[in-house]
Amino acid sequence: MKQIKIEGGKTLSGTIRISGAKNAAVALIPAAILADDDVTLCNIPEISDIDSLEEILKYLNVDVKRNTESMIINAKNMENKEIPEEIAKKLRASYYFMGALLARYKKVVMYFPGGCNIGKRPIDIHLEGFEKLGATVNAVGDKYEITAEKLVGTSLKLPVASVGATINLMIAATKAEGVTIISNAAKEPEIINVAELLNSMGAKISGAGTDTIKITGVENLSKGYSFVIPDRIEAGTYIIIGSLLGKNLKVDNIIPSHLKALTEKLLECGADIKIEQESIICNKNDNLKSNDIITYYYPGFPTDLQQPFSVLLTQCEGTSTIEEKIWENRFMHVPYLNKMGAKIKVADKKAIINGKTSLVGQEVVATDLRGGASMIVAGLIASGKTTINEVEHILRGYDEIIEKLSNVGAKIEIEEIK
Ligand code: EPU
Repeated sequence: MKQIKIEGGKTLSGTIRISGAKNAAVALIPAAILADDDVTLCNIPEISDIDSLEEILKYLNVDVKRNTESMIINAKNMENKEIPEEIAKKLRASYYFMGALLARYKKVVMYFPGGCNIGKRPIDIHLEGFEKLGATVNAVGDKYEITAEKLVGTSLKLPVASVGATINLMIAATKAEGVTIISNAAKEPEIINVAELLNSMGAKISGAGTDTIKITGVENLSKGYSFVIPDRIEAGTYIIIGSLLGKNLKVDNIIPSHLKALTEKLLECGADIKIEQESIICNKNDNLKSNDIITYYYPGFPTDLQQPFSVLLTQCEGTSTIEEKIWENRFMHVPYLNKMGAKIKVADKKAIINGKTSLVGQEVVATDLRGGASMIVAGLIASGKTTINEVEHILRGYDEIIEKLSNVGAKIEIEEIK
């Protein structure tokens, strides 16, 4: 078990370089097994979710060459085996092996995926999509056996614009016979990243990034390449930190248009951020104003930034609200913020935040990945020492967070505890 300790109140200056996007990389890796050839992925973040996917690849006898921030995956000698429950449950994105193995072998046996406990997180849309493509799904408890004689392209209208279902069905349809149309598709930038990798491997996908994606099935895929887009959630977390503690803190290597929903809200709050071509310069402003946030599908305000943003709202004068529209259970961090001195009330999927409140360092818990990030934001602005437990959640998704923050002047360390 690891613990993070922070001594708050330090001004942060310098540059933080943003890594490749977790939620793109975790889909690109399973997509790479569709070819029998080298698939090269660059700008892969060094996070434990990637380690878990590498474990699955190796278990399936896929050849993986991992270097700093890059991976070459070759599935020529791959074996289609049941992925053990304990590995599948280490992360959410193990479910992309459902679409990928189904496309490649017309058979997959695996367990319900893991990931943060932020709501029910069903996978019914994925499974119904596989069935519409011609597969049969047999579920026994948490274990799914999905088989097909062949996959045939069809029209898939998603009941909600699910990121996971859009990617999984796009992967599954890549080798189906004929044309698949996914409508009400999710439009997140990560989906474009995955479609571009598949196209570089020989797939025929158009419309990714819009709500209608057309996939014309192909028989074979080969060599491919992708550069993982910058992580907009990691970037957003540091931009929030910079708005609270920055002195010319540069959050670099980003695509600012991916962060528009966040930067618009920050500017409305009065944050001192300067948007450049590939970076955002942040300066602390002590006179932030309250605001109201509603999380929504891209290009709406990302649910994954809601928890870090809630910390900023504790520093805004007046009453702010956050309405969480995507997940049922994404306010687990609030009791810990209140323990530190925040005044937040949660009713159902809405939080009401009364600011501005001084935060004081406490012993807290990273309840989930982004909840953990919010504890880091809180610890950095609090007076005194904050100790965060269960930080493994944070390490699943933030590349070198201790080093990146220390390099710009934060007093933060991580240690192994017994
Ligand atoms: N949903 C269903 N049925 C399904 C799939 C989704 O009802 O079969 C519902 C969900 O319950 C939720 C909504 O649809 O209410 C959206 O879920 P989505 O499928 O888009 O989420 P996801 O693919 O499981 C990804 C990210 C999450 C991020 C969401 C929303 C990955 C690995 N995870 O999850 O990231 O919150 O999209 O943007 O890409 C995180 O990084 O901290 C994280 C949780």
